Parts: sequence; structure tokens; C-alpha cells
Amino acid sequence: MFGDKTLFPQNEIDKCLSLEDLSVMAAGCRKCGLRNGCSGVVFGKGSPRAGLMFIGEGPGAEEDRQGLPFVGAAGQLLDRIMAAAGFNLNHVYIANIVKCRPPGNRVPAREEAWACRPWLVRQIELINPAIIVLLGSVALQNMIDPDARITRMRGQWIEKSGIEFMPTYHPAALLRDETKKRPVWEDIKRVRDRYHQLFGEPETV
Ligand code: URA
Ligand code: URA
Repeated sequence: MFGDKTLFPQNEIDKCLSLEDLSVMAAGCRKCGLRNGCSGVVFGKGSPRAGLMFIGEGPGAEEDRQGLPFVGAAGQLLDRIMAAAGFNLNHVYIANIVKCRPPGNRVPAREEAWACRPWLVRQIELINPAIIVLLGSVALQNMIDPDARITRMRGQWIEKSGIEFMPTYHPAALLRDETKKRPVWEDIKRVRDRYHQLFGEPETV
């Protein structure tokens, strides 16, 4: 059964008080089968005090190799999008729905996402971002509504649990389809404007 509560009781995760401790705990996770087929847990990167968070789908080959999210081709595009909006890893935190690479980059199964969820939920609680950008349909469906469609929901703010969520296309989708670039840029401008309202201009150091 997924989500073995004897290995990691939920309250052990909930009691964890720092992102660093949480990452050490997560590194030993065997809640689902994905860990057997990957190099290691890809926990996240960026500022532990970020006001803005990005959530993707799951690590790919390059992420699995480096142990960091969004360092492959899609990640390089995400870097450029973030930079164009004036953000860098001092302002944002980046994580995924699942922290272990699905074999052959298949879409993570619902049970795998569910098993991984306590880590992401606690990660969000500890970082406490005001805004979360959901990259693609897997992030949208797992964070907001399993039936949500990215094409219909992107570009609209969704408030949930005191956090403002902005769904947009996944950068990997942009690499396949140029016509998604403009809507993504519109969505990221909404995020930038809201971030400025809440926190002022991000310092570019
Ligand atoms: N795609 C994702 O969803 N996440 C990554 O970390 C890399 C590519
Ligand atoms: N479009 C995206 O941006 N991501 C998906 O996962 C599917 C469609």
C-alpha cells in the first residue's frame, strides 16, 4: 500500500520545523515505488523565505542526475521566464508534485502524487509563499481540482488556503508549442504585478 504511515507518521512530517530537516527526512522516503527507479529525491531549490513558489510535475533525467528541480531544457526556459519578470532564486522557491523521477518521464500516478503530498504540503507551510504558480496540468490537478483543465484555468487567480494560485502552461509545453509563449508571459506578468503589490519590486542581487 502507498503512504505507509509506519515509516513516516504524518505528524513527524507536520512537526518538522525547518526545510533542511524536512529535506533530510524526505531523502529517506519510500512511500511509493518511484524511489526504486530514480537516483534520489529532488527536494526543491530557492529561497526558504520566498514569497513566490513554482510547482512543476516531477524531476526529469537531468533533474534526477543533479538532484535539483528544473535544471534541464524546461528549467532553462523557466529561468529565462523568471528573469524576464525580474525574479531569481533569491525571490522564489521551486518544487514538484512528485520528488522522484517517474520512469521514462511518464506522468506521475495519482497514488504517487498522493504519497508525496505530505512533503510538498509541509514544504509550502514552512516557506509560506503568498503566491504559487502551478506549471501545467499535473500541478493544477493535484493542487486544485483533479478534473481541472490547464487550457481553461490558466491565467486566472485561484485563492485556496490563504494562497493565491496562478496556473499556467508548463515550460516543457512551450518548448513543443510556440503559441503558448504569449499566454504564459501574460500569466507571469499578472504574477509579477501581484508580487509587486504585496512585496514591492524584487531586489536584483
Ligand atoms: N519538469 C518538471 O515538471 N519538473 C522539473 O523539475 C523538470 C521538468
Ligand atoms: N499544457 C501544459 O502546459 N502542460 C500540460 O501538462 C498539459 C498541457
